[in-house]
Amino acid sequence: MGDGISDYTRFIIDLRRHMWMARVEEELRRLIWQIAVMGKYISAKIHESNRKLAGYKNLYGEEQLSLDRSADDILRNQLQYSGFVREYVSEEQDAVVQIGKGAEKYFITADPLDGSSLVDTNLSIGTIIGIHKKSVFTRGRDSIVAALYITYGPLITMVYSAGKGTHEFVLNREGEYVLSQEHIILEERGSIYSPGGLRKDCTENHLKYLEYLEAQGYKLRYSGGFVPDINQVLIKRGGVFTYPALKKSPRGKLRLLFELQPMAFIIEQAGGIATDGKEEILSLKVDNLDQRCPIYIGSRFEVEKAMEFLAANS
Ligand code: AHG
Ligand code: MN
Ligand code: MN
Repeated sequence: MGDGISDYTRFIIDLRRHMWMARVEEELRRLIWQIAVMGKYISAKIHESNRKLAGYKNLYGEEQLSLDRSADDILRNQLQYSGFVREYVSEEQDAVVQIGKGAEKYFITADPLDGSSLVDTNLSIGTIIGIHKKSVFTRGRDSIVAALYITYGPLITMVYSAGKGTHEFVLNREGEYVLSQEHIILEERGSIYSPGGLRKDCTENHLKYLEYLEAQGYKLRYSGGFVPDINQVLIKRGGVFTYPALKKSPRGKLRLLFELQPMAFIIEQAGGIATDGKEEILSLKVDNLDQRCPIYIGSRFEVEKAMEFLAANS
């Protein structure tokens, strides 16, 4: 064909082109692109990692793997010069980091490396990013404008939403993120569930819910990595991930700001829902950085069913 465009170029849609076609605001397009590129640097770190503990502790008192810290350094240092980021909050930082001059458009939340305890097992791990248009100390729905996660697995994939659907890209051999699944939409219900937490620590109502799912034939899928576990619900078009309130920690384990808000945004854009068992995740006000809450996230049927079980005789 005489127009000089090769079939390869004609049919692959890379991340920048996709966001441009979706009319994502220019600075947001460039920011999402920059963060996706940093996924390549973080992946390189994983490949060269010495998996030694950095000897540091984050504010949760958890040992930080050198990878957690280096992933955080990569993100922070690159965003420093983006010109679009005013504040950076991360699971690996004790406080809000001002990285702009004070007038930039966006506020970033980061779980630079999720599932770091899995690094030595070679199971998939990930990076979770939230992009906000104002300070994150509000209800998620009032501030979040985009979210993405990168899965470091057999393939490196990136799922993003800028409020116009949820889409998956795969990093190809040329180092380009090319569109693999567009406008991912969850079915009304799926067939997999991730239980989270130890059964001996769970509440009666949560256990009854798990028994219900199993009686319905749902298959247990749980790797211990939030990113691949959620990604499985999205790519299989349904099911539920939960990390519930536990007897000893009624607020559960996962962090509202760094893990739950971005995933709630992405799953809602795919037609699913995300709650803490009572309220929608994106309706919860963020009061502090290390705020945790229980999570039920996935296709509508399973999450609404969970809310029924949790409300029973309460
Ligand atoms: P992180 O590595 O960022 O601390 O996150 C780990 C989280 C999340 O990835 C996963 O869903 C959860 O920990 C698993 O917790 P358990 O080991 O208690 O199952
Ligand atoms: Mn995490
Ligand atoms: Mn982490």
